[in-house]
Formats: sequence, structure tokens, C-alpha cells
Amino acid sequence: MTIKSNAPGRINLIGEHTDYNQGWVLPVAIDLSLSVNLTLRPGRICVATASGFPVSQTFSIDNLQPVQGKPLWIDYLKAVCWALEKNGFWLSGANILINSEIPIGAGLSSSAALELAFAGALNEALNLSIDPQRLALICQQAENEYVGVRCGIMDQFAIALGRADQALLLDCLSLSYTFIPFKLNHATLLIADSKVKRILGASDYNRRRTECEDAVELIGNYLGRKFLSLREISLEDIIKVKDYLPKLLYQRSRYVVEENARVLAAAVALKENDLVSFGYLLKRSHAGLRDLYDVSCPELDLIVDTVAADQEVFGARMTGAGFGGCAIILLQQAAVDRIKAGIDQAFTMHGWACPGYHLTTAAGGLTVESD
Ligand code: GLA
Repeated sequence: MTIKSNAPGRINLIGEHTDYNQGWVLPVAIDLSLSVNLTLRPGRICVATASGFPVSQTFSIDNLQPVQGKPLWIDYLKAVCWALEKNGFWLSGANILINSEIPIGAGLSSSAALELAFAGALNEALNLSIDPQRLALICQQAENEYVGVRCGIMDQFAIALGRADQALLLDCLSLSYTFIPFKLNHATLLIADSKVKRILGASDYNRRRTECEDAVELIGNYLGRKFLSLREISLEDIIKVKDYLPKLLYQRSRYVVEENARVLAAAVALKENDLVSFGYLLKRSHAGLRDLYDVSCPELDLIVDTVAADQEVFGARMTGAGFGGCAIILLQQAAVDRIKAGIDQAFTMHGWACPGYHLTTAAGGLTVESD
């Protein structure tokens, strides 16, 4: 029996670096995906082949050691096996064939898609009966504890639970979620890939997380209260402690608290189909990521700046962890070619290679079939 699973990439509409601060996020699964074909094999050896990578990789489920340093693609499969077994599931070996159309390191969650597609295939092949939400949590644990990236839950959740034509409003504290229709009529969502490669294993992402934790502790000390996360802290509190907090931590925490408010406002705007207000919030989000959270880069800023004042653009921002990767542009369909040409021209003037583009829709989440 062959199991075929398919996991999409994701973009985040708004709510960046809020998930690990127990805040809100608003991602959609996209129409670029990764597939895994899996057959079980006797014993505890996995043999995996990935399109675009010349050499097959083999590992034993009995010999898994968390990654030190930069992860390779095979480490995400090992991580999933490790986390499933840590959660009490007994695995068997497998032959695994991976095909992906999600660009690697572009901030579209190719690694979470790989985790979910593989975990989903094992779930089906071995009748583990794990529901999608738990599967997402196990894959997050795989990435946190085995790969060593302290990511939040957004990517795995959006990939496991995404629905076509819907955006997912997720409360990362309670894990409660609702879907908001994401049908844009004459508007469309353009992904512009800066082609600046982002290595999430890099320490910058984890450092942001530590900075937020430090800010929570210091703000609590100063106010004489115990906070568990930035979710519990108001903008008034942050303004109160401004002179006491190191400037960097003030900036980080101010960004997160403001971004949480933007997500909730954006969800309302989307429900009301008010793309003008929605687009304005995207622009404010980018400004915060650039000026306060410091995770943008000149290429992403150039994409956003080039389109910012255009009459046919509602809004644009970087999406995902940042430090490179993609921007999203919400714009009128009729303007797509003109906007791409404008960005290309700006990049050419800087002597930079032009971005890659992809028009996307909100797609469905993980699917698994057997034959
Ligand atoms: C990465 C992480 C997510 C989230 C985003 C930033 O995609 O995997 O958990 O933190 O960055 O919003």
C-alpha cells in the first residue's frame, strides 16, 4: 500500500512573530505544495529521496540525535520520527519519496510542509489516529526540540488545518480558531520572493524569542506583576516602563503588542471585506517589523516601498520569519503586471536580481490518501 500525502506552504497575512508570544496570527495555506509518497518497510530503517537532491538518505529510527548546527532536509524527517516516538507512537521503517514545489528558505514554510506531509503519511500508514491539531503540535515539537528552531505553532497549524478560500484566525494561547472568508473578487495576492535566503536555524529567530522573554520578565519586575507572555501586557504598560526597559526590548515588546491589535483589527476588516483598512494594517505591520522588530532586509523593504503609494495596491508587507524570504502584496488584479514591472525596475536600479513572483489563493491544508 502506498500512502500519498500533500501539504501546502503558507503565507501569513498578518500577525508576525506573535505566535510564540501567545498572540494571534492570520495565515492562509497556499497553492504551492509538497507531496510525500510512503510505503512501509520491515524494520526500523527509513530511506528517503527528495526531488532536486541527487542522493537518497537513510536513517534508523533507533539512532536519532537532535541536530547541532544547520539542519539538512533529512533532519526534518528524523525530527518527526523522534517526536512521534516521544509522544508514545511506535514507528516502523519506510520508503519515502518527496516532491516539492515550495521554494526552500523563502519563508513559505517548506520545512513545516515536509514535517506535516511525512507525519500525515506515517499517521495513515500505521493507523495512529492522530487528529490534525495534535499532528501540528507534534511537528512543532519536532522542530523545537530536534531541529533546534524555537518556532511557534502558526506554520504547522495553518498547514494542518488550512481551508480553501479561508484565512485562519488562530489564538496561539488557547489554540482556538475561526475561519474568515478570503475571496478577493477583483483583488489578488501576489507573493514576491526577494530570493534572499533565510536559514531559520540561524540564531536570529531564536534570539528574537529570547528578547521577548527577557522583556516579559523585566516588565513584570518593574510593574510588580507576574506575566507569562507579551499577550498579557498592554500598550499602556509598555509605555509606562519605556524608560526602564533597554531600548531594544522596548521596541520588540511594543511591536508585538501593537501587532496583536493589528491582527484583530485586520480580521474585522477582512470579515467586512474592507480591503482598504486591511491593506493599511499590512503596511503598519511591515513598518513595525522593519523599525521595531528588525527582521526585514533591504530587498523586502524595497518591494514594499516601491508599491506603498500605488493607487491599485491595498497593502504589502514581508511575510514569515523575515531576514529575507517573501513579501506579500494585496492589489487589484488588473495591476499585477504593472506592479511586477515596477518592482523589477527598482531591483535592477539597485543592481539586484529581480524577485520571483507567484499569484496565490488560499488553498486547502494537509490531505492524505492511500491506494
Ligand atoms: C516562522 C515560524 C513561525 C512564526 C513566524 C513569524 O515561520 O515558524 O512560528 O514565528 O516565523 O511570524
